[in-house]
Amino acid sequence: MRVLAIESSCDESAVAVLDAERGLLAHELWSQIDLHRLYGGVVPELASRDHVRRLLPLVNAALQAANTDATQINGIAYTAGPGLAGALLGGAALAQSLAFGWGVPIVGVHHLEGHLLAPLLEAAVPKFPHVALLVSGGHTMLIDVRQIGHYVLLGETRDDAAGECFDKTAKLLGLPYPGGPQLAQLAARGRAGVHRLPRPMLDQAGFEFSFSGLKTAVMLLVRNRKLTEQERADVARAVQDAIVETLCAKSLAALEHTGYDTLVIAGGVGANEELRTRLSAQAAARGARVYYPRAEFCTDNAAMIAIAGLRRLQAGERWDERIQVWARWPLTELSWPV
Ligand code: KG4
Ligand code: ZN
Repeated sequence: MRVLAIESSCDESAVAVLDAERGLLAHELWSQIDLHRLYGGVVPELASRDHVRRLLPLVNAALQAANTDATQINGIAYTAGPGLAGALLGGAALAQSLAFGWGVPIVGVHHLEGHLLAPLLEAAVPKFPHVALLVSGGHTMLIDVRQIGHYVLLGETRDDAAGECFDKTAKLLGLPYPGGPQLAQLAARGRAGVHRLPRPMLDQAGFEFSFSGLKTAVMLLVRNRKLTEQERADVARAVQDAIVETLCAKSLAALEHTGYDTLVIAGGVGANEELRTRLSAQAAARGARVYYPRAEFCTDNAAMIAIAGLRRLQAGERWDERIQVWARWPLTELSWPV
């Protein structure tokens, strides 16, 4: 089976081609970041229009890069939610048109299931069941992944997501949107222990997070001050340390709680080197192993939609020809077998 996948849930337009035997044949991505930077965040209507402009050329580019053509594609997968409704609709409409035109089956994929299954694109794959730390711009969750499609939520954030906290504090430090990666770069030059920021919820049992207080603490720290480059780096270091330490502690507690020895890091913040390194070391010290996708498959992409879609198509899942998307769609509503 050879699947063409389309991702358009937020500000990344992406198309991938995945072959069940030969693996990933192509993945193309157009990032809209420059389009939204001027506004300091994603403008939904601009995102929708840009997806409509970009997706079809990306389909052609992906087919060409995969050295394949439409006759060899025998399944379509598209992101059906959660995300921006208008953005999702652009991808869904194109996906349904291609499936109709090419006469092949189609499935809608849950964006977060895509993130969770992205490590399956790599050479060493995590076994099931495992714990997943899903950390992105919109979500911070610890999940008991029993098997593909069977997700039990252990805990999530009560307010801001980890990525949101990275982005908002980055903005306070004058870094351009989305500031997560830049804040990480700045933090690398910062000195440890100069500032001690709160580690929210660490003193409490359970798997909930809260990051809004951290953002406020940083605001109070930098307010009305002209920081030197070194001082900015020190604050960035303190922010990253607080977020990473909180994520590590709760993830290890989740491993202990479930008794599993496998941990997956997924979502955009999973690209953070400090998080990967520290969590891998701490898990290894307890005999557990950490898996994560390559950095470009941590942030939004179509390869992860392709792997989730391929598994569902192989299991016999088929969606009808309606153009269906859900802005909100709880991960725990998914099922398996289909
Ligand atoms: O998964 P993703 O691409 O989009 C969502 O579905 O939200 O995640 C984007 C988030 C942004 O908040 C971005 O700043 C953050 O991931 N991010 C990072 C890094 N790379 C991306 N945060 C910290 N360190 C990074 N290296
Ligand atoms: Zn995402």
